[in-house]
Amino acid sequence: MAKRTIVALPGDGIGKAVLDETIRVLNAAGFDAEYIEGDIGWEFWTTEGNPLPQRTIDLIEKHKIALFGAITSKPKDAAFSELAPELQKEGLVYSSPIVGLRQHFNLDICMRPCHTYKGNPLNFIRRGADGGVEEPLVDVVIFRQNTEGLYGGVEWSNPPEKVYDALMTHPKFVKNFGNTPKEDISVSTRIFTKKATERILRGAFEHAKDFGYKSVTVCEKPNVIRETSGMMYKMAQEMQKKDYPDIELWNTNIDAQMMWLTKNPEDYGVIVAGNMFGDIVSDGFAGLIGGLGFACSAQFNPDSGIGVFEPTHGSAPKYADYETSIVNPIAMIESACMMLDFINEKDRATKIRKAVAEIISEGKVRTYDMMKMRGRADVVEQGAASTKEMADAVIAKL
Ligand code: NAI
Ligand code: MG
Repeated sequence: MAKRTIVALPGDGIGKAVLDETIRVLNAAGFDAEYIEGDIGWEFWTTEGNPLPQRTIDLIEKHKIALFGAITSKPKDAAFSELAPELQKEGLVYSSPIVGLRQHFNLDICMRPCHTYKGNPLNFIRRGADGGVEEPLVDVVIFRQNTEGLYGGVEWSNPPEKVYDALMTHPKFVKNFGNTPKEDISVSTRIFTKKATERILRGAFEHAKDFGYKSVTVCEKPNVIRETSGMMYKMAQEMQKKDYPDIELWNTNIDAQMMWLTKNPEDYGVIVAGNMFGDIVSDGFAGLIGGLGFACSAQFNPDSGIGVFEPTHGSAPKYADYETSIVNPIAMIESACMMLDFINEKDRATKIRKAVAEIISEGKVRTYDMMKMRGRADVVEQGAASTKEMADAVIAKL
């Protein structure tokens, strides 16, 4: 088989450390690929005024599969002040390159699995009816619509006349905001399209069918956000009735879901939500299985076959300059396993997942987060594994 080319996007901060270690693990699993590094992140914002240069987009277009570490984003003013002086006159505005990638390639399906690793000291525990301690087994996959909704970027402060006039046609706007000066109003829209909603729902139901989950839960707020959440739930009802009668359809509100997920997380299977609620509920579930060191994700477009695989954590700038990297590479390694699934290298993905699970359950090699230490440069001296040592342990198992 021809050698695969993978676009490696280290990005900022700890992104490089976790990506380098993950590539070593992939090599050790016998995955035969060439990695081409793509430029993305803060450095390219400050030096070129663009954190997602066109050459990086071209690379992904050509090779289709990318592994991405993490990027640093900063608020508007800070972003401007760090821009090279000659670029400051050009009226450039920073926007997150990862959001940019999602929108450019329409990576509208985001999948975030959260499952309990046996023996992980960070697993969620609760008190049972008999007063004893219970450790519920979490096995949830969140399907998050990745391009629309509140993160769609259609927003204004002091909206233009046409927008304001359009808003004034809505009786509720007139009643609640009609007396507020236009310049005191900020609007962020929440747009859902039928096409994208259908695709994320279809992805969720298909996954439930393929992997034997008994339920799909729509986690939105249709009783209040009637148009967008309401449309998603209604479409889910129709789809379930027509195509997936053996899978139960549940409906929860995002606020209630955040409470229930600590009471009965084992009850949920596949969860599907719009962009923002999907982001929130996936962080909630990730907290039950060990937090950011374990939370992996895939984002892809099933039509073009373009996929970007990344841990959900960010660039953790505090730890970025440590001589020995201390962060947990498991989230990145598991994201790479999702990449292997996506490109039909499922056996290798299974092998790596098994090695990771064994390391965790043996409990001999643990990064600082797994030892409940505060992240500091001396954690390795105190007995925590470094990023590299964790990867070494997985490689030894392989
Ligand atoms: P963060 O995820 O970078 O870090 C938060 C904290 O989580 C860290 O200080 C650390 O204690 C812990 N942590 C993160 N990754 C870990 C790992 N692999 N192992 C062990 N512990 C880990 O989030 P924060 O601090 O809110 O944001 C830092 C920067 O990252 C910001 O500029 C933010 O915009 C960006 N960011 C980027 C994301 C991306 O690239 N997709 C996602 C989230 C934040
Ligand atoms: Mg998030």
